[in-house]
Amino acid sequence: MATVRELQSMAGTEPITMLTAYDAPTAEIVDEADVDVILVGDSVGNTSLGHETTLPVTVDDIASRVGAVSRATDEALVVADMPFLSFGVDEKDSLENAGRMLKEEGAAAVKLECGPHTVELTETMVRLGIPVMAHLGLTPQHVNQYGGYPRQGTDQEAAERMLELAVAHEEAGAFSLVLEHVPANLAAEITEALEIPTIGIGAGPDCDGQVLVVDDAVGLSDWSPSFSKQFGNVREEMSSAVEGYVEAVESGEFPAEEHSHEERDLDDLY
Ligand code: KIV
Repeated sequence: MATVRELQSMAGTEPITMLTAYDAPTAEIVDEADVDVILVGDSVGNTSLGHETTLPVTVDDIASRVGAVSRATDEALVVADMPFLSFGVDEKDSLENAGRMLKEEGAAAVKLECGPHTVELTETMVRLGIPVMAHLGLTPQHVNQYGGYPRQGTDQEAAERMLELAVAHEEAGAFSLVLEHVPANLAAEITEALEIPTIGIGAGPDCDGQVLVVDDAVGLSDWSPSFSKQFGNVREEMSSAVEGYVEAVESGEFPAEEHSHEERDLDDLY
């Protein structure tokens, strides 16, 4: 598995690629495509668990998926996204929850949705050996505070606050920073100010890397944000395969002879 140091050495030299994955087959495909970082995002709440937001995602939800992804990954750096209120409430719980992702599930690092409250926690985690990827800008765990998912850092004061927080997390030892849904010129300035790599989602082309939710990238989601891009149409492929199956069973075409076997020595049972 790649290391956080290897990732840091890519900053400013080659673009970093990061995608989410939540299961072993997807992780295998993503890893084989040489993606640098696999994030087991709490976006699993929206993509796979049928929730409207990421808030209901539990530590157990993330842990089981981190285990699956780690077992299927040879090269990429696996990062576990810490779910809502699994960190930042109580220090001991925060450390145990994050530590579990490394100790039991095979992640190499954790990601925290950040604010002023995570600077000290980042420092403690890093000191104890838990590498931290910070996340600023639109942090979906604050959906109720925002009243939706608005762009962040759109006025001078908010932009300055974000830059200060980015620097504070770098100084606290974070090894990289995700910037979500912020103006491209702000992301460029933050990238310039930091030594650690920035990884953008809806943050323009000047970050050190880019991240997307894998379901959006491959075209499995039924909805995706405007800053995302669909590079395939897995949903259409799956629908046509499932429809093909239904038709084949209903028409008697499946199973055919090659899908069945007979035992000549079996006596009639009636
Ligand atoms: O949960 C997630 O998938 C994320 C990425 C969008 C950065 O936090």
